[in-house]
Amino acid sequence: GPTRVLVFGASLRGDSLNARLAALVARLVREAGAEPDLARMGEFAMPVYDGDAETAEGIPEGALALRDRLARADALVIASPEYNASLPGGLKNAVDWVSRVRPQPFKDKHALLVSASPSMVGGNRGLWALRIPLEHLGTRVYPDMFSLAKAHEGFAENGDLTDPALQLRLAESVTAFLRLVEADTRYVCLQRR
Ligand code: FNR
Repeated sequence: GPTRVLVFGASLRGDSLNARLAALVARLVREAGAEPDLARMGEFAMPVYDGDAETAEGIPEGALALRDRLARADALVIASPEYNASLPGGLKNAVDWVSRVRPQPFKDKHALLVSASPSMVGGNRGLWALRIPLEHLGTRVYPDMFSLAKAHEGFAENGDLTDPALQLRLAESVTAFLRLVEADTRYVCLQRR
């Protein structure tokens, strides 16, 4: 079947710029012939990680629900804000909870990281910080990343980027990422035969 891609907007904010970027990426994923599953942080409520709470109550429902969506996907796209030159605490917390599930769901997953911010850096430093826990967990983080600067003026009414050159660059990144995922999925299938 088609490659399934979980496209995860990592901001809780209703009018999130990263949710808009995630929606655009989901559309590009579909246009490239794959199947997007659009999700946002707000769907997966979970407390701050606490080892005692894990011992007493296990892994929270929200983290298990996120694990399920991740397990169903062949690949992951994260659209995340940058907070204080790093990844948002809520996203790190979600990664920490989900990483407690066995088999560990981030292992061998392909991930494409994108960000949006009103600033001139576009949240790119947050993506470099996000690479650290993901790569630690064995996620194959795609080398190319996409960061949208001045994102508050970056989207057209129809959800496209106002700059056609940037839109093309994003579409090309998504397509190249999907081709890599598809090639790797075929390779793994051949090995299993
Ligand atoms: C920010 N913001 C921000 N932006 C940035 O480019 N670099 C940064 O280091 C920070 N730091 C930061 C810290 C905190 C605590 C907040 C609340 C915000 C601005 C941030 O990019 C902006 O609020 C985005 O709109 C957040 O993403 P969403 O919610 O629109 O997806």
